[in-house]
Amino acid sequence: MKSVLTKDGSITFFNEEVGDHYHSLSGAFDEALKKHVLPSDFISREGPVHILDACFGLGYNTVVAISLWQDFQKPFPLKITAIDIDRQVALAGLETITSPACMYAKEFCQELVMHPGVKHTAPSLSGVFFHDSLQDRLALLPANSFDIVFFDPFAPQKQPEMWSLDMCKEVFRVMSSGSVLTTYSCARMVRDNLKAAGFEVRDGPCVGRRSPSTVAHKH
Ligand SMILES: C[S@@+](CC[C@H](N)C(=O)[O-])C[C@H]1O[C@@H](n2cnc3c(N)ncnc32)[C@H](O)[C@@H]1O
Repeated sequence: MKSVLTKDGSITFFNEEVGDHYHSLSGAFDEALKKHVLPSDFISREGPVHILDACFGLGYNTVVAISLWQDFQKPFPLKITAIDIDRQVALAGLETITSPACMYAKEFCQELVMHPGVKHTAPSLSGVFFHDSLQDRLALLPANSFDIVFFDPFAPQKQPEMWSLDMCKEVFRVMSSGSVLTTYSCARMVRDNLKAAGFEVRDGPCVGRRSPSTVAHKH
């Protein structure tokens, strides 16, 4: 695992086995904020919000989401379920975060990752990290559970199985009606599978490149 400095000053890693970076080199934190957290618009919701971080990686999507929620003075109870097959990357990735604004979220996530499968609670905030394959863990999760999904596997060319129709159907199953999925990919195969699974697919923002990300709605 090699550390790489991205253009917004945040660190990402390069996975040599897969041959892919964990984030866009245009900015790892920028990607978390602009391709996942803001387009999910979770902060405008009322009532408790349950986020599924599907492929937690270095944890940036969840850290940015919790930090934004904290900025808004914890407007509703927030629940996080995070899944990743690689716990060492999660621990090393969280360690790279130095922004004072993200310390609360970083420490909360470190607790989750240090105790996989154990629910951790803080005022108005709870979470659990599953050290598991996404396929195996999704099969154990109840239907209609999540309001927001940050869907963030490695690129479809590198790990096509993570973007298959079966995977999209499983993610759709665990999402509640009115929920939103965000992902950086706008690949035809990905969008076709999301649509076939039942999502309405829209363009997300263009961040660090010409092509858009994807925001998928379950009505
Ligand atoms: C693009 S990175 C995720 C980046 C992350 N969201 C972040 O903000 O740092 C992809 C992640 O998928 C994980 N992964 C790969 N195959 C997986 C699988 N079958 N189940 C769960 N996670 C998997 C990798 O360990 C890696 O952390």
